[in-house]
Amino acid sequence: MTPPVQLHTFSSRGLRLAYHEAGKGPAVLLLHAFPLSKSMWETQIAALAGSYRCLAPDLSGFGDSEPTDGIYSMEDMAADAAALLDHCGVEQAVVCGLSMGGYAALAFCESHAPRVRALVLADTRAGADDEAGRARRHAQAAEVLEGGSAVLIPGLVPKLLGATSLSGRPDVRERLETYIADAPPEGVAAALRGMAARRDRTPVLARITAPTLVLVGEEDVITPLEESRRLHQEIAGSELTVLTGAGHLSNLERPDAWNAALAGFLERL
Ligand code: MLT
Repeated sequence: MTPPVQLHTFSSRGLRLAYHEAGKGPAVLLLHAFPLSKSMWETQIAALAGSYRCLAPDLSGFGDSEPTDGIYSMEDMAADAAALLDHCGVEQAVVCGLSMGGYAALAFCESHAPRVRALVLADTRAGADDEAGRARRHAQAAEVLEGGSAVLIPGLVPKLLGATSLSGRPDVRERLETYIADAPPEGVAAALRGMAARRDRTPVLARITAPTLVLVGEEDVITPLEESRRLHQEIAGSELTVLTGAGHLSNLERPDAWNAALAGFLERL
């Protein structure tokens, strides 16, 4: 029987933050994408919790976690991840981040390298935004605060999902639209500003010594395959897995293949 998923809270930077926990064993920290929440890891937790202690926080301002005022930086996300591990009495964890969660995971590698037992970077990149990207995020932050997070749906969903999901997985699309509509505008705006301000962490890649899996959906248009190839090239000894029939939110689009790739990597540690 799969261990039950429990909802808990911890505090970091004076904020009350929520997380899901399930299972016992080596800790796996799951950092979610933008503008989603811990709920996006449901099937990963179900697959892993028989052998691992899964910890999936709501990053500040998402799900059940209080928002950060103004701008939620990648450094703040890393600090929140470390505070969660402290709260759980975990010294080292497998750190797994998808997209924005991957930006946070790289910030965590920079500031807390000894705490990274292994690293999973899914559908993400090390580089910073260009000028146009930063301007787009600030415009989106203003739109969301004005009209609610659902304003992002028409522009974002066709990019977050791959062509195969857009044409053939209406359930995934529906789930994603609900996630986006439910995302609290203040948290979404703070994360957009944080992503706009994030530093280029390419120099961090050469310093990573933890075993690393790079995972990417072949149809990802937000952080395309070349970005993952670059991560794989720069991180010594890393593995690269490309999932066909999946886009940017590869864990939602091909959960079984994604979980098998992650489980195989974890077993080899
Ligand atoms: C995400 O999935 O977290 C976002 O696409 C990241 C981004 O907007 O750069």
